[in-house]
Amino acid sequence: MRISVCTTYNDLSEQAADLVAALIAAKPTAVLGLPTGSTPEGMYAALTKRPISFAQVRTFNLDEYLGLGPDHPQSYHQFMKRHLFDHIDLPPASAHIPAGLAPDPDQECARYETLLQQAGGLDLVILGLGENGHVGFNEPGTPWDSRTRRVMLAEKTRQANARFFDSGESVPREALTMGIGTILSARKILLLVAGSNKAAAVRRLLTEPPTVDLPASALHNHANVIVLLDEAAAAGPQ
Ligand code: GLP
Repeated sequence: MRISVCTTYNDLSEQAADLVAALIAAKPTAVLGLPTGSTPEGMYAALTKRPISFAQVRTFNLDEYLGLGPDHPQSYHQFMKRHLFDHIDLPPASAHIPAGLAPDPDQECARYETLLQQAGGLDLVILGLGENGHVGFNEPGTPWDSRTRRVMLAEKTRQANARFFDSGESVPREALTMGIGTILSARKILLLVAGSNKAAAVRRLLTEPPTVDLPASALHNHANVIVLLDEAAAAGPQ
C-alpha cells in the first residue's frame, strides 16, 4: 500500500484526478470502477476541467441503492450525471451502474459481473471509505471473495447517508454492490479518504491486522494500492 498524505482536500482531489488522467492517457480504453459519496466530488470536479477524452473509456460504478430508479435524485445514477457524466464525452452506453429497480436483483448482479468481465476487468477502481471501514456497500463481515450482490446496509451507513435524504426513514435499507473480490480483481486500486470522521477507520486500516470486520483492510491483499488521505483523515482519532 502506498500512502500519501495531502495537505488539503483540494490537493487530494487534484492528485486523484492526475492518476485517472495518467491512466487514460496511457490507455484510452481504460475500464474504471467509480465511487459515489462526498469524498470523490472534488476529483470529479477536477476531471471535468481537464482536456481528457472519455470517448473510449468504460465505467462501472461500485454500487446503487436497491429500490431507487435512475431518475431518483438520491440515486447514484443521478449523482454520477451531476458530478461527472453530464460534463464529459463518455458515451452513455459506456457508463454502467447496477439497476436499483431491477425486477430480479440477483440476476442484475450476475449480469453486472458478467458485463465487467466482458469489458476485460477493471484497470482502476477508485474507492471511498465508510466510517465503519466499508468500501462500496461492503459492510463489516463481508467475505473477501464476495462478488456483486444484494446487501443490507448497516444502520451506521444509513445514518451517515441520511444527510442526502429528506428523512432518515427514506434511506434505502438495501443496495447492490460490487463485492470485495470484485474490487480486489482490479489491476489498480485508489482509496480516497478525507475528513476527521474517517480518522478512526484509517488508524485501524494502517495499524491493525487485516480483518473482515474492517472491509477496507482486504486491500492489504492487493499488490497495487494507492491511498490518498487528507490531513484530517491521517491525524488519528481526536
Ligand atoms: C457510501 C458509498 C461508499 C462511500 C461512502 C463514504 O456508503 N456507498 O462507496 O465510500 O458512502 O461516503 P463519503 O465520501 O460521503 O463519506
